[in-house]
Amino acid sequence: MTSDDLYLRLGVNIDHVATIRNARGGSHPDPLKAAQIAYKAGADGITAHLREDRRHISDIDISRLIDEIDIPLNLEMAPTNEMLKIAIKHKPNACCLVPEKREEITTEGGLDLFKKNQQIRECVHVLKSEGIRVSLFIDPKKEDIQEALNLNSDIVEIHTGSFSNKFYADKKEMQNEFGKIKEMAQLAKGMGLEVHAGHGLNYETTELISKIKPLKELNIGHFIIGESVFDGLDCVIKKFRAIMNNQRKNF
Ligand code: PXP
Repeated sequence: MTSDDLYLRLGVNIDHVATIRNARGGSHPDPLKAAQIAYKAGADGITAHLREDRRHISDIDISRLIDEIDIPLNLEMAPTNEMLKIAIKHKPNACCLVPEKREEITTEGGLDLFKKNQQIRECVHVLKSEGIRVSLFIDPKKEDIQEALNLNSDIVEIHTGSFSNKFYADKKEMQNEFGKIKEMAQLAKGMGLEVHAGHGLNYETTELISKIKPLKELNIGHFIIGESVFDGLDCVIKKFRAIMNNQRKNF
């Protein structure tokens, strides 16, 4: 393995900068400014989720991010025709297909690759034919990894929500969840898929997750934006980078 293979990328999800902006309906704080600070502080990519109800990120945010940031944009989106048209128009570096329920507070679980199989297959095909890399947000399950490969995805992003929730609540359960993520990351990498992970991560959970060698990228949002209220975005991102780099140094 080269040091490049071991490098763990940090994708910073800026949705909640837009959540705060939208609480007052104005233009402050600006998600683009957050993306620019994140880049300077060491983020490797920016993630933004354009939801059907536009509760945080807006169409204009996506246009501005595409035009003005110097690092890859990972557009999170539901596998719908509306989102597909937007992705084709803007051509982000990658699209991460996620499940979306109107009433949910956040993305609660991975995609059901079997229920929406044809819809997801079509999305993967169209996005890839436009030169956009495709990621599928899935739970750490063998059948989902296999199906992601059958669907011709480039990447799987493993949902770390259960692991994060159990981290402080139940040590045994947390270790069980950690084991599942590790095993599924190895399986996916062995099949030739690039492996990402994310959801609910903070400093401590990131320290542990970073030990999983096959992982190539972590996507982190809520904790980064929340912690920035106390320490500032630049400082929080630098702290994450240091934690991630430190863990990979030990391989
Ligand atoms: N990855 C995906 C696919 C997500 O949907 C989200 C939440 O929008 C995240 C990562 C980041 O999760 P969190 O905001 O809990 O760090």
